Amino acid sequence: MKSEQRNCLCGDLNATTVDREVRLCGWVQRRRDHGGVIFIDLRDRSGLVQVVFDPDRQAQFAVAESVRNEYVIQVTGRVRLRPEGTRNEDLPTGEIEVLGLELGILNSAEPLPFQIDDTDTTEAVRLRYRYLDLRSERMQQNLRLRHRVIRALRHYLDERDFVEIETPVLTRSTPEGARDYLVPSRVQPGQFFALPQSPQLFKQLLMVSGFERYYQVARCFRDEDLRADRQPEFTQLDIEMSFIDEDDIIGLMEKMIRLVFAEVLSIDLPETLPRLSYPEAMRRFGTDRPDLRIPLELVDIADLMGAVEFKVFAGPATTPGSRVAVLRVPGGSALSRQQIDGYTDLVRQYGAGGLAYIKVNQASSVTEGLQSPILKFIPEAVVRDVLDRCGAEDGDILFFGADREKVVNDALGALRVRLGHDLDLVEPGWRPLWVVEFPLLEEDAEAGRWVSLHHPFTAPHPDDLPSMASDPGGVRSRAYDMVLNGTEIGGGSIRIHQSEVQQKVFTALGFDEAEAQSRFGFLLDALQYGAPPHGGIAFGIDRIISMVAGEDSIRDVIAFPKTQKASCLLTEAPGNVDLGQLRELGLRINKPKNQDQKPNE
Ligand code: AMO
Ligand code: AMP
Repeated sequence: MKSEQRNCLCGDLNATTVDREVRLCGWVQRRRDHGGVIFIDLRDRSGLVQVVFDPDRQAQFAVAESVRNEYVIQVTGRVRLRPEGTRNEDLPTGEIEVLGLELGILNSAEPLPFQIDDTDTTEAVRLRYRYLDLRSERMQQNLRLRHRVIRALRHYLDERDFVEIETPVLTRSTPEGARDYLVPSRVQPGQFFALPQSPQLFKQLLMVSGFERYYQVARCFRDEDLRADRQPEFTQLDIEMSFIDEDDIIGLMEKMIRLVFAEVLSIDLPETLPRLSYPEAMRRFGTDRPDLRIPLELVDIADLMGAVEFKVFAGPATTPGSRVAVLRVPGGSALSRQQIDGYTDLVRQYGAGGLAYIKVNQASSVTEGLQSPILKFIPEAVVRDVLDRCGAEDGDILFFGADREKVVNDALGALRVRLGHDLDLVEPGWRPLWVVEFPLLEEDAEAGRWVSLHHPFTAPHPDDLPSMASDPGGVRSRAYDMVLNGTEIGGGSIRIHQSEVQQKVFTALGFDEAEAQSRFGFLLDALQYGAPPHGGIAFGIDRIISMVAGEDSIRDVIAFPKTQKASCLLTEAPGNVDLGQLRELGLRINKPKNQDQKPNE
């Protein structure tokens, strides 16, 4: 049945619809007056079409003269071919135009605070008027792409017997390592809900309930420092399965990601993704989310540096838990002093004391061919070994890191990525991989205790279970992360399904039985009633979409995102609440000193 208001869409018109009389509705993208003729670019959800009004039809012409950008109009007209020479190849409807016969204004629009497709508009203005920003072609495409990707993911899972189940948003703290967003309870004053950082515990309970295959497009909330790839609320594709091991879920998820990339994005990913162990990733790339498009690698040289006079290297070379490594950068000998100073500042941010380097002008000669402030402290034979080990060639620069392992990894890992981009070394394409064999626990130096690298429900490797108490740092987990071009896009694990093992991990984390019982008693109980072996994963939907949309920030693929300061410029959330509401909740605001606060009420 045809609608009254319109009978076709702007973007559907082309040479095959010439002579048809059409009724269109949409927004005025642009109006141009051309020697007595008025052109209106009319936009609806399907695209743009040019409508022409000529002065012969006076009544319509007068209305056409009065419309302004972003007015909402209804046009009846006849499709005709554009005259030779005026066709627009860049526009899908560029072969034709609509001769306007009738024109109605459905609504007017104030002059806009910015032009819709203006790429210079600041993000603050775009977010303040997000409903206008979302009219842009870029944002329309991003959100439609998001929809198609999510639809394809759902379809894949639906076909394989997964059930989408909603889990609560008002819940208890779920430990994923960030701060919780809390919601006060009115009915029980002084008590709080936490918004879920993920549906982790509920999806495990659903496995105990016998669903076997669960998924959810789930909103998660984390109060953490925000970056371009982090939002305080974000969306996961959350998945859990019973009676599976690592290979089952990795295989199924690889296939899902490959299919969706191929179907929706026409991107072909490799048939099987490489798997890299955590220790190998750290050794070669200094990070557990390596960007494999950058052809630079860290090379260990501690064994060569133990006896050198240069204490900066000799110290870490002989200290357990430290590392001495070199990063060879082809073409880097052309870097200026100033550029090297810039990179030194970068590594200092990660705690490095400096950034020693050797410029390789001629690799064959360690006496004449090198340029470096540290050569005088290192015997020629050792320098030769370093050059050979990292395969140095003429024109390279070698950057060195010597410090505690974490500092060297963080510093050279970040330097590797920065240099890859600065020197245009990033190879094109998509390089996904799995990182596996993570440690179960890591030391929180400040707190002086062990914390989970993922979350406390991750299963330890069975071979390492006996050494949990004696060597907590050496225990491997059954976790896996999917990494794409340097971004962690998903992560999961096989879970603990036996309450004794779960209790053991809680003990290693320093929770005594009473604390474990009070925080996660419901899980420990559930594990005692026939919990199947299970595992799962969660993908960061926003991150995946922003990468494939070619956007730098996940804000550009979220309809109504928050700023870096976790606020919404459109609704001005978070905002004050009135005193009555606070009183009802049994709350009183303790105003932080020196902080502007809008008055309550
Ligand atoms: P994890 O904490 O690794 O795992 O989260 C899964 C994925 O979610 C994305 N992500 C984020 N995206 C945007 N903004 C954020 N603040 C943010 N934080 C995380 C990342 C990440 O890979 N319950 C476990 C999953 C499991 O074990 O099954 C979990 O939440 O892409
Ligand atoms: P110094 O002896 O402190 O003058 O350092 C000599 C060179 O080593 C300088 O180029 C420093 O930038 C560099 N350097 C200092 N500390 C480190 C470190 N921990 N790792 C790598 N290079 C360093």
